[in-house]
Amino acid sequence: MWTTPRRNQVLDSILLLVGIVLVLININGVESRKVRLSESLGYPTIGCNRKYSASLTDFGGVGDGVTSNTEAFKSAIDNLSQYGSDGGSLLFVPPGKWLTGSFNLTSHFTLYLHKDATLLAAQDENEWAVIDPLPSYGRGRDADGGRYISLIFGTNLTDVVITGENGTIDGQGPSWWDKFHKKELKYTRPYLIEIMFSNEVQISNLTLINSPSWNVHPVYSSNVVVQGLTILAPVTSPNTDGINPDSCTNTRIEDCYIVSGDDCVAVKSGWDEYGIRFGMPTKQLLIRRLTCISPFSAVIALGSEMSGGIEDVRAEDIVGINSESAVRIKTAIGRGNYVKDIYVRRMTMKTMKMVFWMAGNYGSHPDNDFDPNAIPVIQNINFRDVVAENVTMAARLEGIPGHPFTGICISNATIGLTKKPKKIQWNCTEIAGVSSDVSPPPCNLLTDQGPENACNFPDDSFPSFKI
Ligand SMILES: *[C@@H]1O[C@H](CO)[C@@H](O)[C@H](O)[C@H]1NC(C)=O
Ligand SMILES: *[C@@H]1O[C@H](CO)[C@@H](O)[C@H](O)[C@H]1NC(C)=O
Ligand SMILES: *[C@@H]1O[C@H](CO)[C@@H](O)[C@H](O)[C@H]1NC(C)=O
Ligand SMILES: *[C@@H]1O[C@H](CO)[C@@H](O)[C@H](O)[C@H]1NC(C)=O
Ligand SMILES: *[C@@H]1O[C@H](CO)[C@@H](O)[C@H](O)[C@H]1NC(C)=O
Ligand SMILES: *[C@@H]1O[C@H](CO)[C@@H](O)[C@H](O)[C@H]1NC(C)=O
Ligand SMILES: *[C@@H]1O[C@H](CO)[C@@H](O)[C@H](O)[C@H]1NC(C)=O
Ligand SMILES: *[C@@H]1O[C@H](CO)[C@@H](O)[C@H](O)[C@H]1NC(C)=O
Repeated sequence: MWTTPRRNQVLDSILLLVGIVLVLININGVESRKVRLSESLGYPTIGCNRKYSASLTDFGGVGDGVTSNTEAFKSAIDNLSQYGSDGGSLLFVPPGKWLTGSFNLTSHFTLYLHKDATLLAAQDENEWAVIDPLPSYGRGRDADGGRYISLIFGTNLTDVVITGENGTIDGQGPSWWDKFHKKELKYTRPYLIEIMFSNEVQISNLTLINSPSWNVHPVYSSNVVVQGLTILAPVTSPNTDGINPDSCTNTRIEDCYIVSGDDCVAVKSGWDEYGIRFGMPTKQLLIRRLTCISPFSAVIALGSEMSGGIEDVRAEDIVGINSESAVRIKTAIGRGNYVKDIYVRRMTMKTMKMVFWMAGNYGSHPDNDFDPNAIPVIQNINFRDVVAENVTMAARLEGIPGHPFTGICISNATIGLTKKPKKIQWNCTEIAGVSSDVSPPPCNLLTDQGPENACNFPDDSFPSFKI
């Protein structure tokens, strides 16, 4: 990994001079610009191999925490977007506090935050464009109609990277949470990062704090990597989900640490009749090396909006601390489609209300037009190699009456209980499946297969992709 060297001003000046000399002796304009920008000013092109780079300050950016940089981001990215078909570009955000409203990304582009750079999201909602609801949701999640655009937004892009050396994006959420609780907002709250209809997306090595709502929302996209994020929000803040892959194909979420007021990872694919009509599943999702604290929500949630289908999800090496549940499947009549082929292994948990939770009666519909015959199918859900301590209840597994959740498999799970555990550890209704080496002993609906009958975890891997 390339890191920005600390350079004193003398060295910078020398490098600038060298750069200018190189510009003067180089008759190839394209080459000279590359040299001048990337070599002399000392910001990275490595890691993303962009041919052109520029700093936000080249476009009038001021990192004093007070001056708005919305225009600086806009003109910088407008300018850099011309290099999309010529080697791509990188926008460097230097140390400082950069107040900004929403801005849009471009293709073959890297947004790179220095470790001491903080983006501060503007707080006045008049600074936020209102965009259409997501077609697979039909309406905003908080309110009918449109939604405030996210702080960093991109749509219909190819090859886009948002990264840093653990630089910070601060959503300044408290005022949004307050207005949300007081029902003072006309539209759905913004997310920190939303990338829509895009291919080859990387979001890495950043700290995201106090998002107004969800943090990272890749939607209708493919070949997405989310890596090395620290996501922090008060555990009581509303809907501050960590990472929400939504109708995405081939996504990898790894090495993230999340403390939040909602699910750490929430896998989605649209809401009732809108999601069914749009018909775009989330599939080929790998989640690994995730550490989560979420006292009122799940480490990994599947749903409740799953109406495009969720399939082929693998999660491994997951640590959950002080969370409500480890893996939670939420669905309801009217959602339609399926959650199937889910594989989880090597979960370590400490202080959990519940380890396994599945609910077929999760309410919340976009409107009354959902199809009562759209029954979601929940099938082939596998958990193995689970160690949990200080747990209140092992599992609550509730299928849909007359439409049981099937193919549930739990093996090699050791669940240690709190001093005051629930009397009934496994409450199972309308489910079918098997178990092996599970303690405390599971419900009879999970037929005991005897010892050492491990649940499946596929050993192939998802298609690799370049970023
Ligand atoms: C993120 O940081 C890690 C650890 O410093 C490093 O190995 C990795 O290459 C970085 N990733 C990117 C995309 O910069
Ligand atoms: C934007 O791009 C043009 C090249 O088309 C360049 O000449 C100009 O200096 C750039 N603007 C800034 C502020 O760097
Ligand atoms: C970003 O794109 C969205 C949707 O395409 C648009 O509504 C919004 O005005 C754009 N924002 C800026 C700052 O250009
Ligand atoms: C983005 O892609 C989607 C899906 O292909 C398409 O429906 C939409 O019109 C595109 N939007 C823009 C602004 O190009
Ligand atoms: C990034 O910053 C956060 C917040 O300061 C810190 O908790 C985390 O350990 C840092 N991550 C890395 C890889 O340095
Ligand atoms: C059971 O799970 C534990 C914890 O992940 C693991 O160390 C152990 O090897 C597993 N046992 C078997 C037989 O797979
Ligand atoms: C165990 O869980 C309870 C809540 O059920 C919590 O109050 C207590 O602090 C936990 N103990 C430890 C040792 O983590
Ligand atoms: C078990 O779950 C059912 C719903 O499926 C619920 O009605 C019942 O109260 C639960 N029993 C206990 C003891 O928690």
